[in-house]
Amino acid sequence: MFELAERLRKLPPYLFAELDEMKAKKESEGVNVIDFGVGDPDLPTPKHVVEAMKKAVEKVENQKYPSYAGKYEFREAVSNFYRRRKGVEVEPDSVIALIGSKEGIAHLPLAFVESGDYVIYTEPGYPVYHSSAIMAGGIPYELPLKEENGFLPDLDSIPDEVARKAKIMFLNYPNNPTTAVAEMDFIKEAVDFCIDNKIILAHDAAYSEIGFDYRPRSFLEYENAFECVIEFGSLSKTYNMTGWRIAYALGNEDAVKGLLKVKTNVDSGVFNAVQEAGMAALNGSDDVIEENNAIYRERRDRLVDGLKELGFKVEKPKATFYVWLRVDMPSMEFAKQLLDKAGVLVTPGVGFGKSGEGYVRFALTRDVAVIDEALRRMEGVDIV
Ligand SMILES: Cc1ncc(COP(=O)(O)O)c(C=O)c1O
Repeated sequence: MFELAERLRKLPPYLFAELDEMKAKKESEGVNVIDFGVGDPDLPTPKHVVEAMKKAVEKVENQKYPSYAGKYEFREAVSNFYRRRKGVEVEPDSVIALIGSKEGIAHLPLAFVESGDYVIYTEPGYPVYHSSAIMAGGIPYELPLKEENGFLPDLDSIPDEVARKAKIMFLNYPNNPTTAVAEMDFIKEAVDFCIDNKIILAHDAAYSEIGFDYRPRSFLEYENAFECVIEFGSLSKTYNMTGWRIAYALGNEDAVKGLLKVKTNVDSGVFNAVQEAGMAALNGSDDVIEENNAIYRERRDRLVDGLKELGFKVEKPKATFYVWLRVDMPSMEFAKQLLDKAGVLVTPGVGFGKSGEGYVRFALTRDVAVIDEALRRMEGVDIV
């Protein structure tokens, strides 16, 4: 009876909803599906964070409306975390709390994009860059990520007309789904490009702490970055807190203020108790981050070594908890055959954008015994 607005009709179906349907069908046929699809950590939130939450819910002042920008102490904890982990000085006043980084990414274009403005982002990529551009009435401009360029975009390929009319460029390193990382030379190039063209560089750093013998870079390590960069960080993957919905944005003052103005009109902040739990995580020992990374490293090694034994050509990723595997058939076909013949679910790369075609993504969110079982099941399947 009610027709959806054009902006919603323009959006593709949410990628993971389709995958869930495929999986449910298989399970209804009695198959115990091994799911490497969704990037949701299987590991628990650290105990001291859960304990901090229990105490925080009891406090009456935490049961009231939170502040829009977030508690000062939470923003200070983010500031201290950046000093400790990234060597970057950020004033707590340049930090705001978010209800997950997805929320901040989705709202940012509403603050800055007028109808007819471009929003530049890379593909394959997190689907929310595209949908947030559409919801704000912007024109999406996709930059392909190619293996031969280390999955970094070619900024010189952006037409002048697009650069002139672009308001936001989303970049994401360590990258989901390609697992690529960005070094300082690329970061400087991207920041300088955005300053020259008066574009907000929105850096999605959701995987900022997941690296193996590698320390992922904050874009704010480059001193000019504060002229154009808003960086999104999240406790979701760093501390196994996807369900808690807590993240932060920081960096360029105008960008952060603009996002906060949207949020002030849409939501009423993050539950204070969740912010206190977030403070316990950010101010706590970094050992929990290293322990997580050790677990992902073992899984990564087991999966990549096993895939190589099966005949795939694949490298060990330096960062993120994904493995991005090149396959010899259309990615959807590969995923369907793997699900059908082995009961193993992976995400077809094409779901992240057209340049993801020919790849599938494994999330390392299953333990080594399950990875071993998946590899065993794949042995007999003729899709290598
Ligand atoms: C690249 C990327 N950005 C952002 C997010 C959103 O994370 P959250 O909203 O839990 O902070 C995700 C989650 O999977 C992601 O993969």
